[in-house]
Amino acid sequence: METPSVRARAHPSLALAKYWGKAREGTNIPATPSVAVTLRAMTTNTTVRVQPCADAGGEDDSVEIGGVVQDTRRFRPLFDEVRRYARTRSYPGVPCFSVLSENDFPTAAGLASSAAGFAALAAACLAAVSDGPEPTTISRIARIGSGSACRSVYGGFTRWDAGAESAFQIRDEDWWPDFRIVILPVTAGAKPVSSREGMNRTRDTSPYYRAWTEDAPLLARETQQAIETRDLERLGTAARLSYLRMFATMFAAEPPLVYWLPQTVEIIRELEQMRDRGIPVWETMDAGPQVKVLTDRDHARLVVETFGEILSLPAIISEPGPGTSVERL
Ligand code: DP6
Repeated sequence: METPSVRARAHPSLALAKYWGKAREGTNIPATPSVAVTLRAMTTNTTVRVQPCADAGGEDDSVEIGGVVQDTRRFRPLFDEVRRYARTRSYPGVPCFSVLSENDFPTAAGLASSAAGFAALAAACLAAVSDGPEPTTISRIARIGSGSACRSVYGGFTRWDAGAESAFQIRDEDWWPDFRIVILPVTAGAKPVSSREGMNRTRDTSPYYRAWTEDAPLLARETQQAIETRDLERLGTAARLSYLRMFATMFAAEPPLVYWLPQTVEIIRELEQMRDRGIPVWETMDAGPQVKVLTDRDHARLVVETFGEILSLPAIISEPGPGTSVERL
């Protein structure tokens, strides 16, 4: 029998208003709404070959990322959901998946590799078992792998509501041609505590967690309005509040989650001084020490020149990018 292969491309989703906390255990249903931008400058390429499973339990799936064989347990819920979907589309037999994936940026260094990775994986697996799956279906199934991946399915600016199974697009990648994101990797190392573990710990132990989830909808609305009016100062101000309030809940968890490094604080301080001089630069951060700067086309290079010396990896300048795309091989 033919074993069709599909290649999918996807880009990371950088949250401007953050997803931090799950409404319940299990399938990554968020407790907070998030608003994000898809980053053109970083890409995951994933090739999936599908063949009939030797046993109906799907034990013969395999996954390799950057040449390293992975434990398939993390991927199993996503594969099982694709198999369920395949049944509803009259796919003959039970499909198993062989996956080869490559990132052109460091994996697990807090650069949202899981978002791009699971978005590409869901898009490729679904295309391998059906014709033209709906973006909402790809988003819903990508989310099962990693929450933020449901946003990476769409290009440009995206939103994922609290309690929702999938994300949607607010504005496409051509909406704000002047907008730039500069990624400043202060370390090449993997993060010590995963987002998943970090957000569960915060929910279970931080006395500020409730305040965080109650406040998040306001900041998500403010962030979305700033995008819709292409107002960089308003966006930067809201994005800073979102990540700093997210970190405030983490600092109060037990044991506390402190992802920051000395260079992180150095950059935050210097950006403050740059803003005082009228330079449009606002930072955001995720579950790691890396800093991402929101700015415009005219100032992106200045950010790289200012911080180049203290970085462990080269800075990356990105504009908003497209959602997932697939190609049949
Ligand atoms: C801080 O999507 O990696 O980057 O759903 O458990 O896989 P899981 O978590 P993940 O968390 C991302 C958290 C964040 C903020 C964000 O991207 O919204």
